[in-house]
Amino acid sequence: MQINILTVSEKENSEWEKIISYLKRKKMRVHTSFAVNDAYKILKNEPINIVLFDYQLLKIKTSTYIRKIKTIKPDVELIFLSENATLSNAIDAMKDGAYDFYELPVKARLLITVIDKAIEKQSLFLEKMELEKKVKGMFSFGNIHGRSKPIQHVTNIISSVASKDANVLITGETGTGKEMVAKAIHFNSPRAPKPFIKVNCGAFNEGVLESEIFGHEKGAFTGAIIKRVGRFELADEGTIFLDEIGDMSLSTQIKLLRVLQEKEFERVGGNETIKVDIRVLAATNQDLDKLIEEKMFRKDLYYRLNIVHIEVPPLRERKDDIPLLVSCFISNFNEEKGYGIKGINKNAMQMLLNYTWPGNVRELENAIEAAMALAPGDAIEAKYLPSFLLLSQPQHSDFYQIPQHFTLQESEQEIIRFTLAKTKGNKSKAARLLGIGLRTLQRKVIGAQTYS
Ligand SMILES: Nc1ncnc2c1ncn2[C@@H]1O[C@H](COP(=O)(O)OP(=O)(O)OP(=O)(O)O)[C@@H](O)[C@H]1O
Ligand SMILES: [Mg+2]
Repeated sequence: MQINILTVSEKENSEWEKIISYLKRKKMRVHTSFAVNDAYKILKNEPINIVLFDYQLLKIKTSTYIRKIKTIKPDVELIFLSENATLSNAIDAMKDGAYDFYELPVKARLLITVIDKAIEKQSLFLEKMELEKKVKGMFSFGNIHGRSKPIQHVTNIISSVASKDANVLITGETGTGKEMVAKAIHFNSPRAPKPFIKVNCGAFNEGVLESEIFGHEKGAFTGAIIKRVGRFELADEGTIFLDEIGDMSLSTQIKLLRVLQEKEFERVGGNETIKVDIRVLAATNQDLDKLIEEKMFRKDLYYRLNIVHIEVPPLRERKDDIPLLVSCFISNFNEEKGYGIKGINKNAMQMLLNYTWPGNVRELENAIEAAMALAPGDAIEAKYLPSFLLLSQPQHSDFYQIPQHFTLQESEQEIIRFTLAKTKGNKSKAARLLGIGLRTLQRKVIGAQTYS
């Protein structure tokens, strides 16, 4: 990698001239400037990694220069060099964000080591930025695929509500994408750099759930050997996602309500009041109105959670999204698993469109993954789709429907019954259709009567 260094120093300073020629000898590209404003210009136009700054040039507070430089190029590292600075100058500069501070003359070898370390730090910073960009991309609306009206309605609500800090209740059948919606809200909100913490309220019994959410003190109950920080504390300044909220017991609901109202709680078995700043997103595939009627869910809690409501529509109500979802899943699995599937043939796509998808997008995603694993060529064909799809296709009147457990004799009778029904009882016609003689048919019908 070519290292680009920007020096900002006094003109005709012999110490600096030595440094510059040494760095050039070490095959670094050195851009020199003798005034701060020139340095800013170079910084904007060149791929600078490190700025070596003469402390003597500073006229105002170090933090002002550092902030300006980092605004132009956030990943650049600054090293100050000075002929007569004090220790406190050095400490202040580093507190303000400088990478290091050295007194001149500086040993050439030391300077190279420091530059190497600063470059290492810079590449870590860049990796982190890449990762953050990726995570953001992963949960941006761009990842909620679909162009149908119902899904556009959902993404419109997400974009208006994300920045508003309101609690959101997300409902919808299983596999419709509720968790995806919750993540899109968090990662597009000002809380995005802070944690997104999920609690599956249906996965624990009441006691365990409370200690999951609120944490517990050491000795709060048998088995509480150490203190545990709960998920509400972990989510401080971020978002908590209460999944399967309909499964929460009434007594935990009361405690949750208090946190939502007062933004404070105590750990299980503790007295200390803990204050938190959290946004609450909740999801369920249950009918909360019905649970309220049955007195299984508190109305006051419902109102607190349901400041904004997002209903994620089932896939059968947005079938126009299926082709786009399929092509996204194909490219995701190609990338993830190294498959080389280019597409899906017409028949297979028709089968996907005919099905009602009770398990929604997750079921579709699984079906595509399974078909991709089985398909030997570069296209998904109907025969590689899961068998529930084949069986649930609309029945064509030219097909017999024979249960698998039927014996050969029972199957034959079923075919004869079906053909006679089709010919409205006309045995000659039925015999012709079945490719047997009339008498054979009559014998089989009589046989069937004695048989049944
Ligand atoms: N619009 C979409 N675009 C792309 N992938 C989607 C979409 N909706 C859902 N998925 C995918 O479908 C799967 C199920 O989504 P998710 O877990 O968000 O559903 P859910 O509603 O929370 O399900 P459950 O009720 O079972 O918890 C995930 O793998 C998700 O990536
Ligand atoms: Mg879910």
